[in-house]
Amino acid sequence: ALCGVVALDGPSGTGKTTAARRLATELNAGYLDTGAMYRVATLAVLRAGLDPTDPSAVAAAVRRTRVEVATDPAAPTALLNGEDVGAAIRTEEVNRAVSPVSAVPEVRELLVAEQRRVIREALAVRGGIVVDGRDIGTVVTPDAPLKVFLTASSDVRARRRSAQDSAEGRAATFEDVKASVERRDQLDSTRAVSPLRAAEDAVLLDTSELTIDEVTAKLSELADGRG
Ligand code: C5P
Repeated sequence: ALCGVVALDGPSGTGKTTAARRLATELNAGYLDTGAMYRVATLAVLRAGLDPTDPSAVAAAVRRTRVEVATDPAAPTALLNGEDVGAAIRTEEVNRAVSPVSAVPEVRELLVAEQRRVIREALAVRGGIVVDGRDIGTVVTPDAPLKVFLTASSDVRARRRSAQDSAEGRAATFEDVKASVERRDQLDSTRAVSPLRAAEDAVLLDTSELTIDEVTAKLSELADGRG
């Protein structure tokens, strides 16, 4: 069993989410998908018909929204004002709008507070939680005993994203997926507040040549060493 927090950061398509869920299941720990929370906030902005690049409109909309997630790794649910929006947050429209929404400082403040509350609760109830995001090791839980920063080449990441999209019934060409993935990473890495970057004490793991089983095994080995 895991004692504490495993902070997993990195861009999309590194295998982070799948490996994080498997690791949490293996360790009997909770799983928190912080990206899903930013996606729920983004969906609220889009449904309200607001411009995702207008920071004050975005902040006002997110303030009025209840963003909830369940931390069971077998069923990581995302709720928008009580409605299950698990599928609605994975559309290309949300992919396009999520980076500007997540760059708004007030959005981050609100969601980071909720993330810390969920983490505290999981530590009390289960003793451990695997947290998946972009700023977990740097901002959300800088004192996590294990931080891993996953990377992979953008070609590999786009290939994985596009396989996942087809598997889940969302059609898109490889070129479009690659452009979308690169654009989002560029925005996430260069924003002023909590940019995507590795914490100084994070273990770097390049997953370009690894299968998802190998990524999970590597994480589990690291978690064993710090447990
Ligand atoms: O992990 P996922 O691809 O679902 O994340 C969607 C987006 O949410 C990211 O591209 C990023 O803009 C934002 N995000 C963030 N901070 C986190 C997790 C996600 O800004 N901790």
